[in-house]
Amino acid sequence: MLSAEQNDRITRVGPDKPAGTLLRRYWQPAALVDELTGNRPIKAIKLLGEDLVIFKDDKGHYGLVGRSCPHRGTDLAYGRLEDGGLRCAFHGWLFDVNGKCLQTPAEPEDSNLCAKIQHKAYPVVERSGILFAYMGPGEAPEFPHFDCFVAPATHTFAFKGMIDCNWLQSLEVGIDPAHTSFLHRFFHDEDPKEGYGKLFRDTSIDSEMPMTKIMREFPRPRIEVEPTDYGMRVVTLREISEKNTHVRVTNLMFPNAFIIPMSREMTITQWHVPIDDKRHYWYAIFTSFGAPVNKDEMRRQRLELYELPDYIPRKNKRNDYGFDPHEQEHDTYTGMGADINVHDQWACESMGEIADRTQEHLGQSDKGITAYRRLLRMAIDEVEKGGTPLMVLDAQSAAKIMGPAAIDGIGPTDDWQGYWQKTDASKRKAASWANGR
Ligand code: FES
Ligand SMILES: [Fe+2]
Repeated sequence: MLSAEQNDRITRVGPDKPAGTLLRRYWQPAALVDELTGNRPIKAIKLLGEDLVIFKDDKGHYGLVGRSCPHRGTDLAYGRLEDGGLRCAFHGWLFDVNGKCLQTPAEPEDSNLCAKIQHKAYPVVERSGILFAYMGPGEAPEFPHFDCFVAPATHTFAFKGMIDCNWLQSLEVGIDPAHTSFLHRFFHDEDPKEGYGKLFRDTSIDSEMPMTKIMREFPRPRIEVEPTDYGMRVVTLREISEKNTHVRVTNLMFPNAFIIPMSREMTITQWHVPIDDKRHYWYAIFTSFGAPVNKDEMRRQRLELYELPDYIPRKNKRNDYGFDPHEQEHDTYTGMGADINVHDQWACESMGEIADRTQEHLGQSDKGITAYRRLLRMAIDEVEKGGTPLMVLDAQSAAKIMGPAAIDGIGPTDDWQGYWQKTDASKRKAASWANGR
């Protein structure tokens, strides 16, 4: 249980707020590359409570600038992309990707007003289909050499979706391995072939037991949380028999992402990025250790579930997440269909816009959450003291942060550690791009 002040401290994201200040020390997903294609690559976005415009100039450089024009405040999202920048539609002021004012065409020829104008601008880089922005002070940190960033473009796919609540609620779901046995429970097991590649429905690598059955029948996992140089590793153990244990290895990449196995070949690296205090996007990079990904097909499948341009899930609180009491009685724990993202969305959003952590009662199965909040508070304190928080990396330290292992399978009860390490090693050996990493 937290005090209201502590809860504010770890949830609020404005530039003057402790968590907002911390999150600004890292590259944050701002948009998908897919959102800036076509004839007019400009999009209004809100990120960490700030109204911004992201665009691609006529040379292909990405920029992220304040949404209101520094002349008299009109909306630059309606601007014109021309002459090496973004031009305001009101009086034609032109800004480059660095926020430098290039022209003030209504001013007299000899005016030097333009030279005095520096518009708010943040650097943007592309990584694996996502445009990341750095909104903090000083030099931006380096990216860790995680699989999702080093895998070739042929083996990654990026997507996003909006969630109507504070970012921390969803991040905390990602490090809560106990909920799977309940929230994502299916009362019937499908043919393992049908479940192939589906999170929590795939048959485990080394067993004929369907994953849905393991989750359903072993609801009290042992959870091991280990601190790592990138945040923490969460190992979830469901002992099936004296001989066999289901092992799931997931990771928290500090401060606001996690890395989980999706299937035998695929991992998901997922950020929860505040739009403002009360809404956020999940951004995911799917990374394949097997065959190249079929991006068009992955995108097509997901667009059946999400509505453009804002990537709003079609099942949401306005339609009760598709809740069907008959289904809840006979097929699924929630009655909200088979898509586990819908279940998670409901769980996060139904806690309220910003979960009231003064009223919660954490148990032992919440130990990932407790451990993460400790890290978060320490990093916030560190920034306030003027120090460098966890995962603000220089090139040397970034190069050392590789992997991580994200595994789901069944291993020997007496050597589950050796099991996941060996499984990770052989997965890397089999993947053309990951060999030796
Ligand atoms: S308000 Fe933008 S140029 Fe005048
Ligand atoms: Fe979940």
